[in-house]
Amino acid sequence: MTEIKPDIFYVGAIDWDRRMFDELIPLPDGTSYNAYIVKGSKRTALIDTVDPEKTDVLLKNIVSAGVKDIDYIIANHAEQDHSGSIPAVLKAWPAAKVVTNEKCKQMLIDLLGIDEKVFVLVEDGQEISLGDKTLEFVFTPWTHWPETMSTYLKEEKILFSCDFFGSHLASSNLFVKDKCRVYEAAKRYYAEIMMPFRGPIKKNLEKVDNFDIKIIAPSHGPLHNEPKFITDAYRQWTSDDVENKVIVAYVSMHGSTKQMVEYLVDALMKRNVGVCQFNLVGADIGKLAIELVDAAGVVLASPTVLTGAHPAAAYAAFLVNALRPKAKYLAIIGSFGWGGRKVEQLQAMLPNSKAEILDAVLTKGLPKEEDFQKLDQLADQIAQRTKK
Ligand code: FEO
Repeated sequence: MTEIKPDIFYVGAIDWDRRMFDELIPLPDGTSYNAYIVKGSKRTALIDTVDPEKTDVLLKNIVSAGVKDIDYIIANHAEQDHSGSIPAVLKAWPAAKVVTNEKCKQMLIDLLGIDEKVFVLVEDGQEISLGDKTLEFVFTPWTHWPETMSTYLKEEKILFSCDFFGSHLASSNLFVKDKCRVYEAAKRYYAEIMMPFRGPIKKNLEKVDNFDIKIIAPSHGPLHNEPKFITDAYRQWTSDDVENKVIVAYVSMHGSTKQMVEYLVDALMKRNVGVCQFNLVGADIGKLAIELVDAAGVVLASPTVLTGAHPAAAYAAFLVNALRPKAKYLAIIGSFGWGGRKVEQLQAMLPNSKAEILDAVLTKGLPKEEDFQKLDQLADQIAQRTKK
């Protein structure tokens, strides 16, 4: 438990050991589940809870903050890493009401079996008074679920933004201290769960800009006492701008595809194109996602397995399709032994992509002179588009 300001406490839990989220997202630096107590002169609110595995920590911290009664549990988001301890808090403080919006209420009933009678519903812009403190609810949908909202503490100008502006980072620092480290963790977090909703997030950024904010208190990672640091980063990530950078993600079985990749990467570098090369076998998918945030293009390189793409390349294609990066072009290269339809297969896995599809370069077995010429032509196309 840490006091952020008089009568405002951090009561969340740091999870130093967690290494995967949703059994999908690598967490190299752990995470935290941030929850907050706001004590008003008349009423007390708990803003979000923690992952069910850390319920004991939350309950202990609430008591350490000197809380006797909880009047409101503000549920900004229904995902279980923030809502999962609500049943335990209701058990400990049965008079508490769960304050949320209609969509979130239904999700909490479905996901956690919370009794319909405990809810108090709020609309976008509605306020509740804690006495000398006022909470305003700011709907920020698709950050990253449709029901997600933020809560603004008007008197102290604190925005409790839930996942929005968060980072998977376990740290003993309540506020951002090492900006480089937090920037990378926040970008990884944005890439993995926010990027598919770039459009709605842009709108939410504009909405949040209307508030005078001194502190952004997200539900993962350190708090921001320089809000501009993270709002500017989000502005850049959600913009249409791309960097001079192409991702070359590959898998190779007997070395032919790898030779193509090495030749192409060298050809791109000679043309002053920035490259991020990933061997998909063992690659940190989070790193790949980070680079997808502002890469100008993506090259997927795969050998043919049986009659199609290597499953590692198929996984990468699936991920690119799900994350919907703003890449402007996409190319498929690779080798085969006797045939197959991997190009058609991989392209069919990318229905969400609006990227221009460049001509594929395929080689039977080891690449030959004419294949290297085609890779040079591909490098020319990529350089032209990236610099534009
Ligand atoms: Fe951190 Fe969407 O939950």
